[in-house]
Amino acid sequence: MDINLRLRRMRRTPALRNMVSETILTKSDLILPLFIKHGSNIKVPIQSMIGHYQLSVDNLSEEIHLLMDLGIESVLLFGIPFSKDGMAKDSYSDNGIIQQAIHTIKNIAPHMTVVTDVCCCEYTDHGHCGVLSDNTGHLDVDNDRTLALFAKQAISHAQAGADIIAPSGMMDGQVGIIRSALDHADFSHIPIMSYSAKYASALYGPFRQAAEGVPQFGDRKSYQMNPANGNEALREVALDLQEGADIVMVKPAHAYLDVIHRIKTKYPEVPLAAYHVSGEFAMIKAAAQAGWIDGEQAAIEILTGIKRAGADIIINYFSKEIAKLL
Ligand code: PBG
Ligand code: ZN
Repeated sequence: MDINLRLRRMRRTPALRNMVSETILTKSDLILPLFIKHGSNIKVPIQSMIGHYQLSVDNLSEEIHLLMDLGIESVLLFGIPFSKDGMAKDSYSDNGIIQQAIHTIKNIAPHMTVVTDVCCCEYTDHGHCGVLSDNTGHLDVDNDRTLALFAKQAISHAQAGADIIAPSGMMDGQVGIIRSALDHADFSHIPIMSYSAKYASALYGPFRQAAEGVPQFGDRKSYQMNPANGNEALREVALDLQEGADIVMVKPAHAYLDVIHRIKTKYPEVPLAAYHVSGEFAMIKAAAQAGWIDGEQAAIEILTGIKRAGADIIINYFSKEIAKLL
């Protein structure tokens, strides 16, 4: 064997392997989603998401202290309101579930990065991501009326103390309207992380249970992207950047590594997030529980792969259990 063709030399010890490691997953790359439910003294385990709970605001303190101990610096908030209606009123109320949660977290951990999901599906009685109308002959989400709601919601989150606003509703023009609303309300310093390429995925199942946002009829295919499309993701990203997005996102992550790679290649200068979603998490946890794979090692391998593909930031449900290994 030719002596110059030996690659195993640099794999001989852990220190040598670390020395030439091309991708390093760190805690600061990770964002942990939290589900906040109205009421008091609530800590309801989410059946399909082992290790995750719906927490009431009064139970947040323990969780936030734990995250600080683990070195997790960012959370993404989802709210389950007391009441739902056709106009998602709780989502922009000063005393809404998310607004209360932001106040509480910021009191305990002023330096924690609080990202808020801007959407209507947890707040509407029909479970769709915006307001409905039938002006196209069939019941569907009305794009432009929904935009006005997103703008109100974003301002309300910023007023409560959110650090990053993350619109996830996949309405056309959502980044632009939120950017100008924030700017006019003196929040020009608050960045937008846009769910730019969010696919109509079968992998959101556990989340919809966790966030109690199951659509009561139909599906989300008239606003979320077709999983078959990669070129279209580049158009979504181009528009979001034009409208003022600071961070763009691909969601889900594992089945969309090509999309992550293409976006990073085309826009190397733009921070790129990937959302490793609830169904992706649940599959790994289920296999690990059955003893078929090492869950922690599988999680690190997959999240590292997502980073290697081009993601700078990874929203994921493993943050807590793998923090100690990073
Ligand atoms: C709401 C929203 C969803 C997720 C994040 N924000 C669900 C959906 O679009 O149906 C999914 C996250 C996950 O599965 O972990 N628009
Ligand atoms: Zn939604």
